[in-house]
Amino acid sequence: MTQSLTIARPDDWHLHLRDGAMLAAVLPETARHFARAIIMPNLVPPVVTGADAAAYRARILTALPDGMHFEPLMTLYLTEHTDPADIRAAAASGLVRALKLYPAGATTNSASGVRDFDKIRPVLDTMAEIGLPLCIHGEVTDPDIDIFDREAIFIDRVLDPIRSATPGLRVVMEHITTANGVDYVKANDTDLGATITTHHLIINRNHILVGGIKPHYYCLPVAKREEHRLALRAAATSGDTRFFLGTDSAPHPDHLKENACGCAGCFTATNTMALLAHVFEEENALNRLEAFASRNGPAFYRLPVNAQTLTLTKSDTPTAFPAGIRAGDDTVTVFDPGFPVYWDVS
Ligand code: NCD
Ligand code: ZN
Repeated sequence: MTQSLTIARPDDWHLHLRDGAMLAAVLPETARHFARAIIMPNLVPPVVTGADAAAYRARILTALPDGMHFEPLMTLYLTEHTDPADIRAAAASGLVRALKLYPAGATTNSASGVRDFDKIRPVLDTMAEIGLPLCIHGEVTDPDIDIFDREAIFIDRVLDPIRSATPGLRVVMEHITTANGVDYVKANDTDLGATITTHHLIINRNHILVGGIKPHYYCLPVAKREEHRLALRAAATSGDTRFFLGTDSAPHPDHLKENACGCAGCFTATNTMALLAHVFEEENALNRLEAFASRNGPAFYRLPVNAQTLTLTKSDTPTAFPAGIRAGDDTVTVFDPGFPVYWDVS
């Protein structure tokens, strides 16, 4: 027996495409299913100016295979030297859709991030004035703070003070991993949204550590306790417009993941939509998958919902996803949920 579900074509509100051979390899995996994506700026060196974003956007479009349609929504990496006038111009032209705030040292390629939040005050004021969203990697980096507490403490010590000091600032808490993040979003107004990844709906911290360390389940923010995964599932499947899909699909070559100091990032672009159908069905919420993947994000970013559609089909036999994809001389492992999935994009 087959079952099918047609939704407005989804968008990915948090995506790492990288550059060069990696970009060429991973871009089709996203463009096959998604119409648009918010493109993370943490290249080496990072995308910091409007000119950087225009050049990166052109490289993405050049890498897009003939016949595929995909719109990269560009972001800039907020540094202590970001120029408010550059932001204003890049946003006015429609080139840049958000700024990304990485606390310095929080994650992959975040060395140029912000240490002194007073230095970014003029930029934040400009963003509030023009309505440009700030996408925040919400983890404190104080070495005294336990890695599993970094998100909860960030909310109190950094996020809430920034929002209080900047009325009207539109904020996306990226890739929330805790019930604290869910609760903070729910307690606030519509100027605050949150992305949730596919993998944080599927794994908790046991999946990373029990029975041997699983480098392909390691990402930042790191997966937390089961109670947090359940809170994320409830939020994602609730239909609440403030929660939307940002896969944080973050490709790294296998030799850098399966390493004594393995990189953070899960690569989920290939099978995200099938996995989400599985999760939403488990939660008896297939009728709310479209809100999470295709409607709530455009509403926050003040963009139209895609006119095209995507159809998902469930069959009796498990879907065979590739174990990995080739990127130049490297392989990138595709996220393995650890259970059979019967959904596929048809
Ligand atoms: C991301 C990456 O590899 O660029 N890694 C990750 O674990 N999510 C960076 C990020 O979004 O934190
Ligand atoms: Zn990310």
